[in-house]
Amino acid sequence: MKLWGGRFTKEENQLVHNFNESLSFDRKFYRQDITGSIAHVTMLAKQGIVSEEDKRAIIEGLEGILADIEDGKLEFTKEHEDIHSFVEANLIQRIGEAGKRLHTGRSRNDQVALDMKLYCRDEIDELDVLLKGLLEELLGIMEKNLDTYMPGFTHLQKAQPVTLAHHMGAYFEMFSRDRGRLSDIRRRMNTCPLGSGALAGTTYPLDREYTASLLGFDGPTLNSMDSVSDRDYVIELLSALSTIAMHLSRFSEEIIIWNSNEYRFVELDDAYSTGSSIMPQKKNPDIAELVRGKTGRVYGALMSILTVMKGIPLAYDKDMQEDKELTFDAIDTVKGSLALFTGMLSTMSFQKDVMEASAKNGFTNATDAADYLVGRGVPFRDAHGIVGQLVLFCIEKGIALDDMSMEEFKAISPVFEPDIYEAISMKTCVEKRITIGAPGQEAMKKVIAIYKEQLKA
Ligand code: ARG
Repeated sequence: MKLWGGRFTKEENQLVHNFNESLSFDRKFYRQDITGSIAHVTMLAKQGIVSEEDKRAIIEGLEGILADIEDGKLEFTKEHEDIHSFVEANLIQRIGEAGKRLHTGRSRNDQVALDMKLYCRDEIDELDVLLKGLLEELLGIMEKNLDTYMPGFTHLQKAQPVTLAHHMGAYFEMFSRDRGRLSDIRRRMNTCPLGSGALAGTTYPLDREYTASLLGFDGPTLNSMDSVSDRDYVIELLSALSTIAMHLSRFSEEIIIWNSNEYRFVELDDAYSTGSSIMPQKKNPDIAELVRGKTGRVYGALMSILTVMKGIPLAYDKDMQEDKELTFDAIDTVKGSLALFTGMLSTMSFQKDVMEASAKNGFTNATDAADYLVGRGVPFRDAHGIVGQLVLFCIEKGIALDDMSMEEFKAISPVFEPDIYEAISMKTCVEKRITIGAPGQEAMKKVIAIYKEQLKA
């Protein structure tokens, strides 16, 4: 059935129908479409635009449609153009005349604007739950690894010792900002477009404030032309999703490196890795690789919607129907990635001794050795040169700074005393860094307390 059949004389060409239809994908927000219609008719009845009796029949019909879709009793048949037409046609089939009054004072333009907002808002809430779960997992790892020493890197070169807690804390910051971004978007988008009509409002005495409050919005949108053609929140959401995907991708990259034979910092659980069909020795980090790889399609969705929107004159144009598939895909991709990644993280084991040995063998305490000399009156530039000689000596002998004998230290600089060993131990190197934000336990404990409060809020 066509909602707009009256004006047309020829049957729609099948190819045109296939190209034009959106039911195959906008069926995804059948629930939001029905919720919006129930609010709309509730408002129509309050305003005396439809009778109480018709309202009851319409709501009962809509609830029946919802239940039947969820029970798999009602199929999305292909002849309908979109979810809006599908629901309305079904309603009329079920309850007759009264069903024809539902679309009073409404257009599919404000209807789809509402559905898309409701859908995105629901998904933002689900994404927030997933992000919170990941943050809780990270916090758990942090609390258990305040003194798990590991090399911190710059340029992927071992730089200075940090702890696993500190390293995980960096990701806590990233995903916590992601939550903040989503909540900013949710706040900004939370106005109700319903009642904007096709573009210029309607002639019916609608109570838009009331509809907005029924649907949990802060109020109605204030310009009907913008209401039906605003997809800024979709762009913002896809941008936030792209940032989440980028964070997950960086983290995946590290786990892939850490899981490699060369590093062995972590061991992935069998459930989150796969074998090779030909090389029996392999255990591949497929999940981390897929999460990293899926970043591309999320970025792609953002580029697509920006491109779709750039040429659209006010108000609604059909181009905007292109917002759906890519948004749905990006949301599902990021939700799947977050869930899988959290599972992988919670089952992964950390090889603490390997991490600590790696920090020692990479001269990550060289800066601290120089600081030791500075503490004994050597100018920093000279200290830097002396420690450079120590490092060269160690590389030749294939040992760490900590493995040098006192005589060997003295031979390079007489300033060294036996307390050098204590000064360059991993523990000292980390524990002296206690300014807020640094890896020392004292600082980390303060930060963890702040994170705990954040998660409670
Ligand atoms: N399927 C359309 C969309 O997703 C619904 C709005 C259609 N409005 C119209 N005037 N053709 O954008």
